Amino acid sequence: MRRNIVITLLLLAIIIPAKAYSAATGEIRVGTSELEMVFTIAENRKVIYQYFGDKLSADSKTMLLNRQYKLRRDGRMLDAEVFPSAGDFLDPALQLTHSDGVITTDLYYVDHAVANVDANTVETRINLRDALYALDVSVVFKAYQKENVITQCVELTNHEKGSVRVERIASAYLPLHKRMYYLTHFYGGWGGEMKMEEEVLTPGVKSIEARTGILNTESVNPSFMVSADAPAQENSGEVYAGSLAWSGNYKLTFEIDKYGILHILSGINPYASGRTIEPDETFATPEMVWTYSSAGRGQISRNYHDWCRRYALAHGDEIRPVVLNSWEGTYFDFDEKKVMDMIDDAADFGVEMFVLDDGWFGNKYPRNDDRVGLGDWQANKKKLPHGLGYLADYAHEKGLKFGVWVELEMVSPKSELAEKHPEWIVKSGERDLLLVRNQCVLDLTNPAVQDYMVETFDDILGSSPNITYVKWDSNRFINNPGSEYLPDDRQTHFWVDYINGLYSVYERIREMYPHVTIQLCSSGGGRLDFGALKYHDEFWASDNTNSLSRIFIQYGTNMFFPAIATGSHVSISPNHQTHMHSPLKYRFDVAMGGRLGMELQPKDLQGDERTFAMNAVETYKKVRPIIQLGDLYRLVSPYDEGGWAAHMYVSKEKDAAVVMAYSFEFHGRDRFLEFKLDGLDKNKKYKLTELNPAKGRKPYWGEGMVFTGDELMKIGLNINDSDMFDSFVFLLTAID
Ligand code: DGJ
Repeated sequence: MRRNIVITLLLLAIIIPAKAYSAATGEIRVGTSELEMVFTIAENRKVIYQYFGDKLSADSKTMLLNRQYKLRRDGRMLDAEVFPSAGDFLDPALQLTHSDGVITTDLYYVDHAVANVDANTVETRINLRDALYALDVSVVFKAYQKENVITQCVELTNHEKGSVRVERIASAYLPLHKRMYYLTHFYGGWGGEMKMEEEVLTPGVKSIEARTGILNTESVNPSFMVSADAPAQENSGEVYAGSLAWSGNYKLTFEIDKYGILHILSGINPYASGRTIEPDETFATPEMVWTYSSAGRGQISRNYHDWCRRYALAHGDEIRPVVLNSWEGTYFDFDEKKVMDMIDDAADFGVEMFVLDDGWFGNKYPRNDDRVGLGDWQANKKKLPHGLGYLADYAHEKGLKFGVWVELEMVSPKSELAEKHPEWIVKSGERDLLLVRNQCVLDLTNPAVQDYMVETFDDILGSSPNITYVKWDSNRFINNPGSEYLPDDRQTHFWVDYINGLYSVYERIREMYPHVTIQLCSSGGGRLDFGALKYHDEFWASDNTNSLSRIFIQYGTNMFFPAIATGSHVSISPNHQTHMHSPLKYRFDVAMGGRLGMELQPKDLQGDERTFAMNAVETYKKVRPIIQLGDLYRLVSPYDEGGWAAHMYVSKEKDAAVVMAYSFEFHGRDRFLEFKLDGLDKNKKYKLTELNPAKGRKPYWGEGMVFTGDELMKIGLNINDSDMFDSFVFLLTAID
C-alpha cells in the first residue's frame, strides 16, 4: 500500500512540475441573491478567478478548491488571476514601471475584507501586493443582492519610495472558457446611435474603444454582452454582460488565446494616458458593472434597469413628467412672446414641463445661431427682456415646470468668456484650435474652470426657484488635447483628469441642487454610460426623433438603460432629420416606449391631430408607472426579418402591462404578426384595452376581452393590420 502511494506520488511529481499546481487554501465568494463570482487563494498566494455564474450551493467547494487545469509549457497552470499584471504574455490588466525602472508586476494575496454597505449591498475587497515592491492593489467588488449586479473597480496605492508610471490599469478582467463566444456590442454615429451588432469572436483580439475624450458613446458604447456557445436569445442561454461606468476614453478587449480562453478586459483607454503616481498616492479606476443570466438577455436588461433606477440614476423611483422641448419647434428663432405662447400651448396639451433649448443667452455675441455666444450665460436682453426667471414663473403660473438648456463645458471663440479666459481652452500647445460646431472645450482639469461651471449653474438656477430642469448638452469631441493648467510632464493625465473634473462638478451641483431634474444630452446619445448617468435623471437618446429610427435606437439603448430615463419625443412630420413622413399615432406609440415628450411647435398640430395628441398625453400619464417602473420584455426584435417590432412593460406586481407593436414594412394583403407575450402571471386574467386607437381603423378584435396570462404567453396576440406604419398599444389589466 505504502509502496503504491510512493509510486503514485513519484509519478505525479513527474507529470506535474513542482511549481505547477498550487492547491487552494481558501475561497472568496462575491454573491448576490442569484449570482456569484468565486475566487480561490492558492497555496502560493495567487488569487485565482474560478467562476462567474448562477449562485452555487454553499457546499459546492470540491471542484473550485481542487480542479486542475491544463499545463502551459512553462509549467504554469492555465488558471487566471483575478487581476493579471504585466510580466506574462497575457494582455495585462495592470502595466506599470516601478520606481526603479522594472516593468513587471507580480501580485499576491494579502488579505480580504467583506462589509455590508447597506442592507442590499455587500462590499468585498481583495488586497494584493507585489512580491518585491511596496505596490498595493485592491480589487473591490460591490454585490447588489436584489438586482443581481456586481460592480468591480481597482485601487492602486504606491508605497514605493519614488513615483511609479502606470501605462494601463483596467477596471476588471473576466476569463471565460466556452466553445464559442458571441459578442453583442453597439455602434453608430450622430442620429443613429446604439445600433446593435452580434458577431462570433474568433482567435485574436477584438477591441472596442473610444478616443474622443467626451461624446464617448456617440459611436460605440462601453456596454456589451457575451453569449456562450450560441447567439444570445431573449429567454434562454448563458449571457455575460458588462458596462463600464466611465465617460471618457475607454477600451474593451476580447482576446481568444491559443487555448480557446476568452480574456475580457475593460477600463480606461491607455491611449496617451500614462500616469505618474506619487508615493502614497492612490489611483482608483471607474467601476465595471457586471451581470449574468443563464436565461437569456431579457433578464440581463431587467437586472440593469432595476440596478440603474436604484443606484445609477437620480430620482430613479419617481415618475417623470411629460416634456415639451423647444428645439425642433423654434431652433434659435424665438422671443419672449413666442416662448410664452408655447408654454400656453404646452399647458393645453397636458404637458408638465417646458424646456427652453439653445439660443436664450449672449448679449455682446447673441446666440442666434451656433457660431457664437457659448460661455456667456446671461439671458439675451433683446429676445428675453425680462430674463429667464420671468418665463419660469410664467410657466409655473400655468401649472408647468420649467427647464433650460446649457452647454457649460464649451466656449465659442466669439464670446466674452473666451476673450477673458483664453487660457481655459483645451489646446495642444501652440497648435491651431480645431473647432467643431464652431466651438472649443473648456479645460476641466483646471479647478478654476470647475468653479466657474458650478457658479454659472448656480447663477442660472438662481434666477428663479421655478427653474427645476436642466438639459446638459455637450456637442463636440476633443481632439488636439492639452491643458495650460497641467504641468508639461503631466499632459498625459489630461484625458482622465478632465472626466474626474467633470464628475467633481456634477457632484457639487448635485449637492447644491439635489431635487433638480438634469438631462444628460450630449448631442443625443453622445455620453450614455453609468458613470455620468448617476448624476442625471434621464438622457436624450438621439437627436434623431424619426419614429422608425427610434425603434432601433431605443431597442439598442434599452438593452442596458431603462425606459424611465430614455427621453423620447414626438416631433413633426416630415421628420427634420430624415424627412420621413409617419402618422402622429405611430410617433406617439413609439415615443410612449420611453419618457414621453414633444419636440415641436405645438401650433403645428391642429384639428384631429391636436385632439389625438392631447388624448395620447393623458393616456401616457395613466400608464407611465408601468412603463417607467415596470419590467421590460422584448417580444419581437426589429433586427429580425419581417419588419415588425414588439415589446411590453409589466408592472412589478404583474397586475398590469402595456404591449407595444409596430409594423415598419409593407406586408401586403397576406402577412400578419403573431407573437407571444411574456412576464405575466399565468394564473391571472387580464382585460385587454387598446390605447391610442387609430381613427378610421376598426377596433382591435380582442378589445375588452379577458385572457388568461397563460394563453397570452403560450398562444399570444396577432396583429392583422400591417401597413407600413401601423402600430398598436394595448393595456392589460388584471381582474379579480
Ligand atoms: C444638440 C442637442 O442634442 C439638441 O437637442 C439641441 O439641444 C441642440 N444641441 C442645441 O444646440
